[in-house]
Order: sequence, then C-alpha cells, then structure tokens
Amino acid sequence: MRELAQSLFSGAAYRYDRVAAWLSYGQYPRWHRFLVSRIPPEARWVLDVATGTASVAVLLARRGHRVVGLDLTEPMLREAARKVQSLRLQDRVLLVRGAAEQLPFPDGAFHALTFTFLLRYVQDPPQVVAELGRVVRRGGWMASLEFGVPDPPWRWWWRVHTRVVLPVGGRLVSDGWHRVGRFLGSSIEAFCRAHPFPEVRAWWQRAGFVQVRRRRLSFGAAEVVWGRKR
Ligand SMILES: C[S@@+](CC[C@H](N)C(=O)[O-])C[C@H]1O[C@@H](n2cnc3c(N)ncnc32)[C@H](O)[C@@H]1O
Repeated sequence: MRELAQSLFSGAAYRYDRVAAWLSYGQYPRWHRFLVSRIPPEARWVLDVATGTASVAVLLARRGHRVVGLDLTEPMLREAARKVQSLRLQDRVLLVRGAAEQLPFPDGAFHALTFTFLLRYVQDPPQVVAELGRVVRRGGWMASLEFGVPDPPWRWWWRVHTRVVLPVGGRLVSDGWHRVGRFLGSSIEAFCRAHPFPEVRAWWQRAGFVQVRRRRLSFGAAEVVWGRKR
C-alpha cells in the first residue's frame, strides 16, 4: 500500500493543488476549510498527517497553530516546502517525511491532529487510527477528511464524475493524474462499502475518542469526522 501511495502521488505532485481544485469543481479548498474549523483555535501544536502539498497545514498555520506536516511522498513534500517558503510560514510549519502507521512522536505530543485522504492507502485502517490517536494528548482533538459516496440521486452523477470526468480530466493534465483519475472512483467506492461510518466511528472510539461526529459535504462526496480524546 505504501508503494502504491508513493507512486501515485509522486506522479501527481506537480500542480497538485490547482488540479485537485479543478477536478472537484472548486470544492477541495472548501472541504479543507471545514476540516480545519473542527480544530479549536487554542490547540497550540497540531500534527497534519498525509499533509501532501501542505494545504491544510498552511490553513492551520494561518489560524495561529504551530504545525508539523507529515507525509510519505518526497515530491509532495517538496511542493509543500516550496509553498510554505513562498508564504513565509517556515517558522510555523515544520515538514517531516514519515508514515502514518508508525509516527516518530511520543504519546500525547500534540494538542490536535488532522489527516486527509489517508485511510484508503493503508493496510490496516483501525491500527492507523489508533496510532494517530496515540500522539494526541488527553482532551485534544482529531479531525479527518476523506472522500465519500453520495446517496441517490447524486450517486449517479458522482459515478459519471469519478468514472469518466476524472480519468479524462486527468489524461488532459499528465500521465500521473490519469493514473489517479482512473484509480479514485473504484477505490473510494470499495472503501466506503467495506467500512461504513459506524465501523469507522468504532475505530475512533477504540482509539480513545469520544463525541465522534461526522459531517457529509457536497452531497456526501466528502466526509469530515472529528472527535475529542478522552
Ligand atoms: C490525496 S493526497 C492529500 C494531500 C493533502 N492532505 C490534501 O488534502 O491536499 C494523500 C496524501 O497521503 C499521503 N500518504 C498516503 N499514505 C500515507 C502513509 N501511510 N503515511 C503518510 N502519508 C501517506 C500521500 O503521500 C499523499 O500526499
């Protein structure tokens, strides 16, 4: 799984933000903003896992948080570093290469944690949720953003979007984006069918989180889950 994620995102790092916004009809930044709004402003240190090009990390830093952005894929981190530098946020955002399965931080090191579009790329999602929860201190917050599958009638349009628009749109951008475009629809649908929300909520609860809530965005095409560590 790690190899798959690295090869997919190495090919999609260049102009990632622009293409992601374009292929989501401008929804991508809106989903990021809602995710970040789930983290209380007083959380000082926030870990952003699967930070990619650091879009969420930058939003968090602009709210005044100190952020560590962690990702597996070098080319994504290079784009992240370029962005953080051009926005002069180096004193607020630290970028680290690492894997969500085994975080290089002690228990309870962070006041809050965010992660985005991660769980479809890991072998053992409940283990990863437990590992993410391990580094959040008691009383701290965790929030995630993942793709979802809209309910009918929107589901039919979503299928056209993921099975036709994404691969064709990706093809127009690059070979790397074509691969991502072909991969996403079936990957999202398989994950959501295998792991409905009550199961995901149980992973969070076993990881020590209470008040676990979910908000579906854009008719269910994206889902934000958040909760508080006991
Ligand atoms: C769809 S991108 C999302 C990037 C960014 N968070 C955003 O929302 O724009 C998913 C990211 O997850 C990273 N990733 C996948 N598996 C990972 C793992 N096991 N540990 C850390 N990062 C991982 C990939 O390298 C990629 O940058």
